[in-house]
Order: sequence, then structure tokens, then C-alpha cells
Amino acid sequence: MISQKTIDEILLVSKIEEVVSDFISLKKRGQNWVGLCPFHEDRNPSMYVSPRLGIYKCFVCNAGGNAVNFVMNHEHISYPEALTLLAKKYHIPIEEELPKTPEEIEAQSVRDSLYTLNLFAENYFIDQLFKTEEGQNIALSYLKERGLNEATIKKFKIGYSPEGWDPFYTHAIKNGFKLDHLLQTGLVKKSDSGKYFDFFRGRIMFPIHSTIGKTIGFGGRILKTEEKIAKYFNSPESEIYHKSDVLYGFHLARKAIRSLDNVYIVEGYTDVISMNASGVENVVASSGTALTQNQIKLIASQTNNITILFDGDPAGIKASLRGIDLLLDSNLNIHVVPLPDGEDPDSFARKTGDQELQEYLKNNTLNFILFKTKVLSEDAGSDPIKKAALVNEIIGDIAKIFDPIVRSMYIKECAQIFQLSEETLNVQLRKRVWKNINQNKTEKREVEELPVEHHHQSTIQTGITDVDLIENNERLIILLLLKYGMYEVDVEIDDPKGVSYDKCRIDQLLFDEFHDQQICFSNPLFQKIYEEYAFVAPNIDSQEKIILYFTNHSDEAINHFVAQNFVKEDPEYSKYWNLRFDTSTRYADNNIHKLNNDVESTIHMFKLRLLEKYQSFLVKELKVEMTDEHIDKILDKLDQVNSRIEEISSRLKIVITK
Ligand code: CTP
Ligand code: MN
Repeated sequence: MISQKTIDEILLVSKIEEVVSDFISLKKRGQNWVGLCPFHEDRNPSMYVSPRLGIYKCFVCNAGGNAVNFVMNHEHISYPEALTLLAKKYHIPIEEELPKTPEEIEAQSVRDSLYTLNLFAENYFIDQLFKTEEGQNIALSYLKERGLNEATIKKFKIGYSPEGWDPFYTHAIKNGFKLDHLLQTGLVKKSDSGKYFDFFRGRIMFPIHSTIGKTIGFGGRILKTEEKIAKYFNSPESEIYHKSDVLYGFHLARKAIRSLDNVYIVEGYTDVISMNASGVENVVASSGTALTQNQIKLIASQTNNITILFDGDPAGIKASLRGIDLLLDSNLNIHVVPLPDGEDPDSFARKTGDQELQEYLKNNTLNFILFKTKVLSEDAGSDPIKKAALVNEIIGDIAKIFDPIVRSMYIKECAQIFQLSEETLNVQLRKRVWKNINQNKTEKREVEELPVEHHHQSTIQTGITDVDLIENNERLIILLLLKYGMYEVDVEIDDPKGVSYDKCRIDQLLFDEFHDQQICFSNPLFQKIYEEYAFVAPNIDSQEKIILYFTNHSDEAINHFVAQNFVKEDPEYSKYWNLRFDTSTRYADNNIHKLNNDVESTIHMFKLRLLEKYQSFLVKELKVEMTDEHIDKILDKLDQVNSRIEEISSRLKIVITK
């Protein structure tokens, strides 16, 4: 038996339009989708799918139902089989509930008891608010002063926990609730002297509901803010309340989130309530913390669009900007609405009329990345190091976006903000994207190793691993850059009249080669140095100053690397390079040829290693089950890679394998 929890999750996450379109093709018509009905001979599309209602319906043969029904009827399978299929589609692990053990029955009944107790408490607090003198005089008047009307108070089931040592405890025990359960929900605590007392006393009670509206916990706000006690007391974690899975207000907002295809995220209970009262219903609160993975999953089950409301103070904005990395990874479209300085969503919603609020939200919705770029670049000012770091950070954000068109739009706008060329940013972006792809590739590398066939002339067995070779090569290139980046070498130029030579700076040569082929370093430290070099070199006029810049770098890892390699030199390395370049007189005459060769072969060697890495990845990919079309693509790539490898190795004359 599939557990109720799993069934709830499947029903929550399944989107009818996605499920149906797995089987038949759908076209958008207004809010709905239409397609040929698979349950009768349909010539004109008569099957309607409504995302808002979560159902499909055929107007000719009357077939209809929810996502599970569709799968059952279409595939002629049972209810549990359909659930299993949907669970697979949405990657929901199935929790089996085979014949329950007595312990499980007990646990289930404990959970049920906790729900019942919380509901009982919720009603008790509501009664206290509306039906007692204390509640009316102190709490209800407070809420009304805050601009909440009775309809809103009732909608959110707000209540009041009276002053006193143990009125709720006494009331609950009298009604037959178990002490153990009272303690588990956190509604009652035990004092050091062994007496039981109410946890929430003299507080406005905001019940917290599950996605299907069950009461799972409470937030209790103090009335007198001057006191030095925490403004909010919250229910502790329990069998039924896991704070990090819950979004406050979700069960009320869900319908609106779906139909408006967007959700507003705010911080607090009162923010949700006031916005809702002002007619903005697609709003939920993270309850004062950064969004968790599960909360994001919950959002993504309803919409791909998320709009974060930021309180209008600059310090707060900067803090929140950097606190949403998880969201960026989620592949949702993120927007922000910054509020006027000094306002939070609650105060702002109360200050403005309903119409005005909705218009403000509409007119002040900004793209998250662009907003972040603007705010932080103002902050970085003209400090080149801060700016370089910021560019790097933003490029990292942009690289996480899947859609290349959206990415290029960001690049365009960021180039303006940073006053850099689009090309410069694009170069950085390509490297990042490439790096991300590479990371994913390494993660996928569980497939058993296949022997890679080489068709090369000669082979040297070194016993060194792939990774060592690449690292070592990367290291050489970085050192080459830092020590001799500004020196010039001759490069071959192919033109119709034959081969000619031109002078080119070594750093320029490296950048050109790497950018053209979107190469980046596997060692993040080297990548960082490389990127920063590219950023600062145009403004530095001597090689010594470059070295000085990196020696005095604020990043300790960079500092350390440079110091290690330039102060106490690796003997093998210095023997090799210093002889070549350090005496400019030698460089001037017959060593020039040698220099050219060294630079060239260093670059080639590096490329060769990367190509071989890519090659073995492709070969492994081939083992994975996939479509013919995909296989063709990979074979095509392999072909290109192989001929590149051959070309380079023939230039190098030798090939080194593991
Ligand atoms: N919060 C909390 N404990 C606190 C303070 C805040 O749990 N001591 C959480 C609550 O979920 C609160 C949210 O953080 O709703 C946002 O905090 P804040 O903006 O200070 O509270 P509001 O709900 O906006 O309350 P109010 O407007 O009444 O001050
Ligand atoms: Mn507030």
C-alpha cells in the first residue's frame, strides 16, 4: 500500500497538463489546453485540460477526472499503478505502507491525535479572542488597530492565548487530551519545579497549516513590543510540524499561485495576512528564514515564477540578495519587488489602497539578477577588485540559467551596468557554462570505464593519472602567464600566399586559444587567477607589476600559490623556464624559436589532455541508453574530437597516455 503521505505528495505535485501531454499532444487555448480525446474517435479536439482545476474533460464522450484518473483510464491500469507511474514521473520516492505494524498504527494514531489537539487549540484560541473580555479588549482591539478586519482574522484563523499560568492546559486535560501529546505539540511545558504551564500566554496566535489545511503548529506574537521577550514564540518541531517544509499561508494561496502562475514570497505572518487582505492572494511566507530546498520544491510544484518582496532598507536588501543561492539553482524565474525605504509588505499594504498595491507590484517587478547587479555594482563603486569579484559572481548566477536566449539578454544588460563589452562578459560566461557542464559530467562518471582506442604513432607510458597531467599542465600555463604573459612570440599566420609570421603577446595567444574553444581550467584556483589576470592585465604595464599584484592578493590561496612559485621556485620548473626567458638578451636572438616551441607545446599539451578527457566522457555516454538522434550527435562529436587529438598529437610528435 502506498502511504497517504506519498499519495498526498503525488496529487500535490502532479500537473494535469503535464501528465496529459505525456500521452497526447495539447495546444494552449486561453487558460486551458485542448487536444484530441483519446477515449473516443475524435476528429476535432474536444478534450479540455484545465490547469486551474487540475482536471481533464471531454465534451463529446464525457470522459474526465484528475491526473491519476487520466493515467488509469489511458493506460488501463489500477489506482496504485497510476500513482506509481506519476511518482516516477515526478521523482517522488514511494513510501510503502505494507501491512502496518502495531508500532506504525500507534505512530499514525499519535499523528492523528496531534492534529486533533492542534485543531482543538486553534478553536480555543479563536474563542478566547472573540468571546472573552480579555481577548476582545486586548487582542481583538490590537488586531483591528493593525488594520485587520474580522473576515481576514477569521480567514487566517487568528486567535488569542490568554494570560495566566495554565488555562489552556487545564481546559485540554478536562477535555480528555493526553499530557504526552500536549507536551509533544509544545502547547504545554513542564517547569523546573515539575508544574505544567501554557507555552503561549498573552499572545496573538497565528496557526500554521499544512498544504492541505491541517493545523500543525502556531506562531504566537507578543502584544507589548517593549518587553525584552522574543516577539514570536513558535511551536517546536514535532511529528507533524517540520518548519523547513512549511510555507506560511500556502494552503490559502495555492489556487491563486496556480491561476496567476506566480508566487510572492515575504518574510512574516503579518506580511502574508495584510497582502491577502489587500487582494494579493498568491503570497506565502518563509517565516523569517532563507528558503529551504523543500519549500522551493513546494513552490515549483505550482509555478515556475517566484517574486520576492524586499523590505526597503539597503542593508536588508544586500543581505537578502546573497541569501538566495538555492533559489538560483532551482531554475525558477526569480523576480523581486523592492519596497520603499522603511516599509515592509505589511506596512506598505496597509498604507496603500488595494488597487495601488497591485499596481505597485506590477510596475516595480524587477528581474532578480539585474536587480542584484545594479545594487551591488553601486556598492562596489570603482574599486577594480570588488568589481572583478562582482562580475565573477554575477556571471556565475547567469551561467546557471538554462535558456541561452535569456542568458544573452542578461549579458547585454549587465554589460551596460558594468561598462564592459558584451564580448568580455560572454567569454567569461562561456567558460562558466563550460565548467558547469564539466562538473555535471564528472558527477555522471559512474559508468564503468571503457578502453579508449588511440590511433597514434608513438606512446610513452608515464604512470601518471589523467588528473595529475592536466593539473600540471594547467600549472605551467598559469606560471607562463604570470611570468611571461606580456612577452611576445611569433605566431604562424595562414594566408593564401603561404605561411607568414606575426608577433603576439603570450597572454593574448593563450586567451585567444582558450576562448575560441571555450576551454577552462579544472583547478578552480587556476581558473580564478586566469580570469583575474584577464581582468587586470590590460591596465598593468609591466610583468613585475603583474607578479606584485598577485603576490599581494587578498585571496590567500592565490597569494600562497604565487609566493610558493616565485619565491621558492620549484627546481625542475625554474631550470626549464628561467633558462629560456629570464635573460632578455638570449630571448632576443636564437632562443626565440625555442620559446615559441615551448609556448606552443604547453598549450597543445593542455588541450590534448582536455580533449582526451572529453573523449572518454563521450565514449561513456554512448553506453547510456538514448535515442538514435542523440547517438548520432555523440558520434559526430567523437569524430571531431578524435581528429583534433590526432592533429595536435602529430604536431607534438608524441602522445603520452596514462
Ligand atoms: N520570527 C520569529 N521569531 C522572532 C521574530 C520573527 O519566528 N522573534 C519570524 C516570524 O515568522 C515572523 C517573521 O520571522 O513572521 C518575520 O519577522 P518580522 O518581520 O519581525 O515579524 P512580522 O511577522 O512582520 O511581525 P510584526 O509586523 O507584527 O512585527
Ligand atoms: Mn512586520
